Amino acid sequence: MNSASPFSSLEGLGLGLRSQHYQDILSGQNHPQWFEALTDNYMGDGGLPLQYLSQIAERFPITFHGIGLSLGSLDPLNQDYLKKLKALVDRFQPALVSDHLCWTSASGLHGHDLFPMPYTELAAKHIAERIEQVQEYLGCQILIENVSSYLEFKDSYLSEVDFLCEVLERADCLLLCDINNIYVSAQNHQFDAKDYLARLPADRVKELHLAGFEDQGTHLLDTHGAPVHDDVWKLYEEALKRFGSMPTLIEWDTDIPEYSVLLKELSKARQYWEQHNHHIKDRADYVA
Ligand SMILES: [Fe+2]
Repeated sequence: MNSASPFSSLEGLGLGLRSQHYQDILSGQNHPQWFEALTDNYMGDGGLPLQYLSQIAERFPITFHGIGLSLGSLDPLNQDYLKKLKALVDRFQPALVSDHLCWTSASGLHGHDLFPMPYTELAAKHIAERIEQVQEYLGCQILIENVSSYLEFKDSYLSEVDFLCEVLERADCLLLCDINNIYVSAQNHQFDAKDYLARLPADRVKELHLAGFEDQGTHLLDTHGAPVHDDVWKLYEEALKRFGSMPTLIEWDTDIPEYSVLLKELSKARQYWEQHNHHIKDRADYVA
């Protein structure tokens, strides 16, 4: 698919847009360079969330990140969801549109858990065809994010990274590379996170995610409710060496802290980011 899109370009460091911080964002002085909005939260007709999103989108580049496409599911693509997504995309012209390498529904029942795929050629073909349909409908390439996982299908005979590369190639889509998710899954399934990074197609990576996990003793749980772990920062550095100064997002979805705590995490990310970027823009209103 032609990657030419109406979307604006994106650079630097972003934060996940959360309703708890609307007022801080609109009244404060220090900000990230862009915000990532959770698409599923803005699909209603009107209301305050959309009003806030409009105000924030006037001041900052935004990206759309969703969990509702259920790209890997055997259910038909949800046409109502797609229609709402396209309306949002057409209205806000986000810099990037993303969803996950997973399924979130079965037999018409939708949930919020991001279930991993069986890593087989057949499953890669299935999800890639659906990604192509979504791209065709939206008129642009989308980004697919690697998820954290805790279980594997007995049928899987490909590695996760080989499966991911196969899907990216087949669908001609882009990659949202979540560094924390690679680390969590690598620990849970005992694979080499650095090797995973090294095998990703650099030309398809357009965004990186950072978030915190919890150590549950038997496994790592991707909670998005804690600071980024030291080992994930180290892996982030590896990613920056490999991919260059990729737009990077700090995600925090549970036990959401004060806006200032997120800005501190962002400052830390910027220290790593700057070491691999010699063209960062001088922005007086930028926090770090
Ligand atoms: Fe993520």
